[in-house]
Amino acid sequence: MTEISLPKSVTAAAGTNIALVKYWGKRDAALNLPAAGSLSLTLANLGSETTVRFAPDAGGGDGRDCVLFAGAPADPKFAARVQRFLDLVRTRAGFRLPAEVATTNTVPTAAGLASSAAGFAALALAASRAAGLRLSAAELSELARRGSGSAARSIFGGFVEMSAGTRADGADAVARGLLDEKAWDVRLCVAITAEGPKAIGSTAAMERTALTSPYYQGWLSSVPADLDQARAAIAARDLAALGAVAERSALRMHACAMAANPHILYWNPATVAAMSSVKALRTGGTSAFFTIDAGPHVKVLCGAADAPRVEAALAVTPGVMRVLVLAPGQGAHIVNEN
Ligand code: DP6
Repeated sequence: MTEISLPKSVTAAAGTNIALVKYWGKRDAALNLPAAGSLSLTLANLGSETTVRFAPDAGGGDGRDCVLFAGAPADPKFAARVQRFLDLVRTRAGFRLPAEVATTNTVPTAAGLASSAAGFAALALAASRAAGLRLSAAELSELARRGSGSAARSIFGGFVEMSAGTRADGADAVARGLLDEKAWDVRLCVAITAEGPKAIGSTAAMERTALTSPYYQGWLSSVPADLDQARAAIAARDLAALGAVAERSALRMHACAMAANPHILYWNPATVAAMSSVKALRTGGTSAFFTIDAGPHVKVLCGAADAPRVEAALAVTPGVMRVLVLAPGQGAHIVNEN
């Protein structure tokens, strides 16, 4: 490939995703291979948009990548992670050109909701296209996984399953779409319970869990049955069955992390209060189910018609600062290419 054939710049967007069967642990850190499968819902209106350009003069002409986040130079740790990811794309494309990367999040970043999932899914698509590569969805998922395990799922819209794979090279550790974003009208209501970044990032937390939690093997061995049940519930559009799996998976993941040494506890009092609100909703006849990621926010799965009732119940829960109501969204896609 010659530089002449490269597009000037490519902009891609991706929605974040929330796991209903959690990913928590790796079988290979270098290739970022998950130790078990996972299953998620990709969301609309909560994601990242990334523009990438490879050129000899990109990044100010000193031969180094330039990484902008929300219009300003990205923090050095994030920039280094992006550069390592771009190296994968450059190796695959067979060139060494520097890049300009500009990322914006459609996520209230201060709330600690910004996920690497949407960011690396958008970057995988934008960077590979800007490098002149045309990757299949499975290849994009594999590439996105190198940036962040959960990003492999945001390549696809709607309900998505990620395989742990068995191959040492990770070619089968990719996601696939189960049900597109229009096929089942559910909502995810996000109760924001704190501002600021999370206490410990998921990469470090899952490593500590794997090394020190006595429950880690038990957690891993519980995932395949949860995946089977979640897949069947999605096929049958059975919200109660899917919700039961989602709550169980989240609680097992957190129990496993809490048992690490030092312990990993993401919850605050409002997290627990929001969980109680969800249980009270169910007692009152509303089909709603919680999940919690590596942070204190509570995400509640429900049918579209019940979302206003769920939103109202969460909004009056002590300690809940605000509630976002999100619909299923499409997978990573190109916004602009020239
Ligand atoms: C709790 O995908 O952020 O959100 O692969 O190390 O980047 P890395 O981890 P990451 O972990 C996500 C953890 C989780 C559960 C999930 O999304 O499945």
